[in-house]
Amino acid sequence: MTTTLIVLAHPAHTSFNAAWAHATEAACLSEGGEVLWSDLYQLGFDPAERAEHYAADIVSDPYDVLKTQEAASTAGNLPAIVGHEIEKLRRADRIVFHFPVWWFAPPAILKGWCERVLTNGGLHDTSNRFDTGHFRGKPALFCVTTGSRASESAHNGKEGDIQMLLWPMAYTLRYLGFSVLVPRIVHGVHGYHKGAAKEDLETRLQNELDHHRDTIARFETLPKIAFNADSDFDRDGTLHPDAPSYTPFIRHEP
Ligand SMILES: Cc1cc2nc3c(=O)[nH]c(=O)nc-3n(C[C@H](O)[C@H](O)[C@H](O)COP(=O)(O)O)c2cc1C
Repeated sequence: MTTTLIVLAHPAHTSFNAAWAHATEAACLSEGGEVLWSDLYQLGFDPAERAEHYAADIVSDPYDVLKTQEAASTAGNLPAIVGHEIEKLRRADRIVFHFPVWWFAPPAILKGWCERVLTNGGLHDTSNRFDTGHFRGKPALFCVTTGSRASESAHNGKEGDIQMLLWPMAYTLRYLGFSVLVPRIVHGVHGYHKGAAKEDLETRLQNELDHHRDTIARFETLPKIAFNADSDFDRDGTLHPDAPSYTPFIRHEP
């Protein structure tokens, strides 16, 4: 039985993002799978990492975020909500993230979830990252909406290349060892359409929900984002001249 963790970062339960996340749940259940939820707003997840989340004797003096996360992980004394999130990440066979693009990035609550849950010492350390990440091989899929149109989110679009906007989030998961699938993106999602444009959007969104089961059914064969292997870098962390470049974030030319 496949266990799927759905991470939803949207405050409105009437939103398309929420409907899409529920379509993921329905598709997984219809396959006989188990579904775990991290509905971050419903959880009241506090995205701001700070010393007050930890027992006083765990917090390093002076307060150092990485050292405190490491000490809490070692002592088995992480904040309860962080511990629960880590347990779900470990239990799940695959993770599906649902979120809108807000200011050219995932919403702050999801960024904060990464900062607090993907703990130093617990889920990564210098021996367990990238190729040797704890979650190596575990697939993660981003289901994303943008307000901008597909043309505006393309490589030459005015809103910037959506694949690049999502790359830091994808690389965060890659750091942990996850296999990150090519994101599924629905563009032009907002409540300001009128008349035919509104009808067209409603049809497109319903179509996406109706066909989402097929996407989940093909999960194992969905394309993955290519990342450099550890062996593509020298001891200084510089890309070898003959290694491939998969992204403008890591490239050969200055
Ligand atoms: C704070 C905020 C910032 C936004 N920034 C962007 C953006 O940078 N690019 C974009 O295409 N859409 C942006 N949008 C539009 C959202 O992506 C859009 O409202 C969302 O994808 C619609 O999905 P929903 O109906 O599930 O909320 C922004 C919306 C909000 C509320």
